[in-house]
Amino acid sequence: MLTPTLHTVLFAVFASLFVSAHCDNRSWKDAALFIFGDSLNDAGTNAYLYLNTTVVSRSNFPPYGETFFHHPTGRYSDGRLIVDFIAEHAKLPLIPPYLQMKGGEFMGGANFASSGAGALVETYRGYVVDLKTQLKQLEQLEKKLRKEMGSEKAKRIIKDGVYLISIGSNDYLFPLLYNSTLFQSISMEDSVGMVIGNITNVLEGMYKVGGRKFAMIGILPFGCVPGMRALTRNGSCSGEANNLAKLHNIALTSVLTKLETRLQGFEYSYFDFYTATRERIQHPSKYGFKEVETACCGSGPYRGNFTCGGKRGVNKFSLCRHPGKYLFFDAFHPTERANRQFAQLMWNGNPTIIKPHTLKALFKHEGI
Ligand SMILES: *[C@@H]1O[C@H](CO)[C@@H](O)[C@H](O)[C@H]1NC(C)=O
Ligand SMILES: *[C@@H]1O[C@H](CO)[C@@H](O)[C@H](O)[C@H]1NC(C)=O
Ligand SMILES: *[C@@H]1O[C@H](CO)[C@@H](O)[C@H](O)[C@H]1NC(C)=O
Ligand SMILES: *[C@@H]1O[C@H](CO)[C@@H](O)[C@H](O)[C@H]1NC(C)=O
Ligand SMILES: *[C@@H]1O[C@H](CO)[C@@H](O)[C@H](O)[C@H]1NC(C)=O
Ligand SMILES: *[C@@H]1O[C@H](CO)[C@@H](O)[C@H](O)[C@H]1NC(C)=O
Repeated sequence: MLTPTLHTVLFAVFASLFVSAHCDNRSWKDAALFIFGDSLNDAGTNAYLYLNTTVVSRSNFPPYGETFFHHPTGRYSDGRLIVDFIAEHAKLPLIPPYLQMKGGEFMGGANFASSGAGALVETYRGYVVDLKTQLKQLEQLEKKLRKEMGSEKAKRIIKDGVYLISIGSNDYLFPLLYNSTLFQSISMEDSVGMVIGNITNVLEGMYKVGGRKFAMIGILPFGCVPGMRALTRNGSCSGEANNLAKLHNIALTSVLTKLETRLQGFEYSYFDFYTATRERIQHPSKYGFKEVETACCGSGPYRGNFTCGGKRGVNKFSLCRHPGKYLFFDAFHPTERANRQFAQLMWNGNPTIIKPHTLKALFKHEGI
C-alpha cells in the first residue's frame, strides 16, 4: 500500500533534486543534520504521504504550529521540535523533510522522520515511512549527492553529519493502543529485543552508508503521557508502559556501547529522555510548567483523547490558552517549551543526561 505511493513521490522528488546544488559553503560547510524516526522528529514528512489518516499520521492542521510558525507545518507540537532547536544550535537552517526537497539545493541536511513510524515494519503499516524505508531513502540521497557533488565531497558530508534518531515508542504504543495481538504471545523482553534488533540493523546500515556520528533519543516515560493516563482511568502513569520504556532504554545504551567498540570510528550521544521528562513531571515549577499531566489540546480525561485539531474522526476538542505552561501539547507530544529545554540538554547538558558526548561535541569533532 505504502510502497507504490512512496515510489511515485520519490520519483517526482528525484527528478528535480539537487539541480542547483553547487559549492555554496555558507550553510553546510561545517555540518549536516540527518534526522530519522517518529513524530518527535517529523517536520512534515507525513504531509507528503497521500494516505488515509484515521489512525495517526498527520498534524498539518491548526492548532498545530500556532505558537511559532503561526500555521501548521506537519509538526506534532504547538511550535518547534527538538530537531529545530538542535539545527539552530548547530547554526544550520531548519532542516526540510526529505520528501519536500524538490527544486534542488541541499541545505544542511534532510529529515526522513515520519509520525507513527517504528523500528518494526508492522507498526502503523501503510500510514508511515518505517525506519528501514528511511534508511533506504538515506542511501538514495547519498547516491544523489555523489552524482551532484562528486564522491569526495559527498563522502565528507555523510561522514561529518550527525544522525539524530528518535524511534521505538510507537512499536510499543501501537500494540498497547490498537493491536493487542501483536505482542500477545511474546514476553516484554522479547518484544524489546525485536525492536532493538531492528534498530541495530538500521544503525549498521547508516554506518555502511558512511555515517559515523549518531545521536539517539531514548524513550520517555510514555506511561505518563496524557493519552496513557486517560487509559489507566485514575490518572496514574501506566507502569507497564514505563517498564517497557526502561527496558528499551537499557537495551539501547548497551547496543550503542557495543557498536562503539565493534565499528571503527562510530561515535554517539545518548539522550536520557526518560529522566529528563520524569524530572519535569516531578518538579514542574522548577522548569516553568504549571501542568504536566493534562495535555493542552485534546478531549476527555487529561485531554488524553487524541482529538487535537478535530480531524481524526472527532471534531470537538479543547485547547488551552497558554501552551507554554504545559509539558504536553496533545495526548502524546511535548510543547515547544518542553522541546526547547530537551534540545538544550542534548546540546550541552550534564553527562548524566547526554552521554558520552554532547551534541555540541559531536558536531565539533572533525571526522575521525
Ligand atoms: C566560502 O569559502 C570561501 C573560501 O573558503 C570564503 O572566502 C567565503 O567567505 C566563504 N563564504 C561564506 C558565505 O562563508
Ligand atoms: C483509503 O481509504 C479508502 C476509502 O476508505 C480506500 O478505498 C483506500 O483503499 C484507502 N487507501 C489506503 C492507502 O489505505
Ligand atoms: C494485528 O496484528 C496481527 C498480527 O501481526 C495482524 O494479523 C492483524 O492484521 C493486526 N490488526 C490490525 C488491526 O492491524
Ligand atoms: C525485526 O523485526 C521483525 C518484525 O518486524 C522480526 O521478525 C525480526 O526478528 C527483527 N529483527 C531482529 C534482528 O531482531
Ligand atoms: C490506578 O489504577 C491502576 C490500575 O489501572 C492501579 O495499578 C493503581 O494502583 C491505581 N492508582 C491509584 C493511585 O489509585
Ligand atoms: C474520544 O472521544 C470520542 C468522542 O467523544 C469518543 O467517541 C471516543 O470513544 C473517545 N476515545 C477515547 C479513547 O476515549
